[in-house]
Amino acid sequence: MSARTTLTVRLGGGRDYPIHIGAGILGEAELLRPHLPGRQVMVVTNETVAPLYLDALAPALEGLERREVVLPDGEAHKTLATVAGIWDALLDAGFHRTATVLALGGGVVGDIAGFAAACYQRGVAFVQVPTTLLAQVDSSVGGKTGVNHPLGKNMIGAFHQPRCVLADVATLDTLPERELRAGLAEVIKYGLIRDPDLFAWLEARMPALLARERRALVEAVAHSCRNKAAVVAADEREAGQRALLNLGHTFGHAIERVLGYGIWLHGEAVAAGMVLAARLSVEMGWLEPAALERIVALLEAAGLPTAPPREADGGAMLEAMGLDKKVADGRWRLVLLRGIGRAVVTDAFDRNALERLLGAG
Ligand SMILES: NC(=O)c1ccc[n+]([C@@H]2O[C@H](COP(=O)([O-])OP(=O)(O)OC[C@H]3O[C@@H](n4cnc5c(N)ncnc54)[C@H](O)[C@@H]3O)[C@@H](O)[C@H]2O)c1
Repeated sequence: MSARTTLTVRLGGGRDYPIHIGAGILGEAELLRPHLPGRQVMVVTNETVAPLYLDALAPALEGLERREVVLPDGEAHKTLATVAGIWDALLDAGFHRTATVLALGGGVVGDIAGFAAACYQRGVAFVQVPTTLLAQVDSSVGGKTGVNHPLGKNMIGAFHQPRCVLADVATLDTLPERELRAGLAEVIKYGLIRDPDLFAWLEARMPALLARERRALVEAVAHSCRNKAAVVAADEREAGQRALLNLGHTFGHAIERVLGYGIWLHGEAVAAGMVLAARLSVEMGWLEPAALERIVALLEAAGLPTAPPREADGGAMLEAMGLDKKVADGRWRLVLLRGIGRAVVTDAFDRNALERLLGAG
């Protein structure tokens, strides 16, 4: 694979959009400009990312009417009040229906900015410029936007697809190590769900990824986005197949909830959650023990946790899982594995085995 590549998310109805992936592409006007319906661009970023990358983005927006909203950093600001601040800025600037909202940052900025774009004047164009590995491989693709409510994470939101995604892996140079590793959990997830070749490639290339070799990063982002794009194209609004993307997430959310949000990063909780899903799959005779060993070894190579933290009590975990929003109609569904690259959404799992696994039996 060359040092840059472009994929297309196929949604039909004139809504297809490109994902440009490369190193040093942030300022390239020709990648961005065809997707802006008008001259007005509101860049939404945060106080950490702005000093690092606003200048590098500037050439891509030269000659346009550009404004910025610089948010405080952190998940705690992923609220409706923050979104209202963006709407204020759009109205103050006199931005109209052909304006574009551009998110420059991680998943938090992307989710907030996307939701602001989804509602402003009943929906304006949105562009994603993700700067964390998690955002590049996951949150910037697929059109889920939204904010948290005091009673639940991501509870207020909308589907609003971007017009274009610009993933510049050079921005990952400044990403804290722990955030990089958390992003790798989501890359590993795609391998486990539906791409055994990606899983094997990761087993070989993990040192290169941790060393932030650009060619390896471009390849990892491209493989991940290709997988996510295929799932999203088949099931844009999560009626079925898209739920596979939640592998490790029901367990992971339970870990985050029981431990208290922000103690473990989401990707870390998902990593331990994927191992729990794999262990349950082995218990049920669905997955070879050797496959479980490969999964644990790869997550360890990425420096990710492979078990819940000691203080996460099994009973509390079970209860937290019962509260998960993916429990449709009161029936529990889990994403389990029938092999590396073969995930299934099922309610036919062994509840006793699950309780034993969590030490809550
Ligand atoms: N919409 C979706 O489909 C989807 C999917 C997965 C996760 N999410 C959401 O994404 C969010 C998590 O995203 P995240 O992991 O990117 O976290 P984040 O946005 O909080 O970014 C992590 C940290 O890295 C900083 N940062 C960002 N880019 C940087 C860079 N290039 N260099 C240095 N620091 C940088 C950020 O300011 C922040 O402090 C959660 O709110 C989650 O709900 C959404």
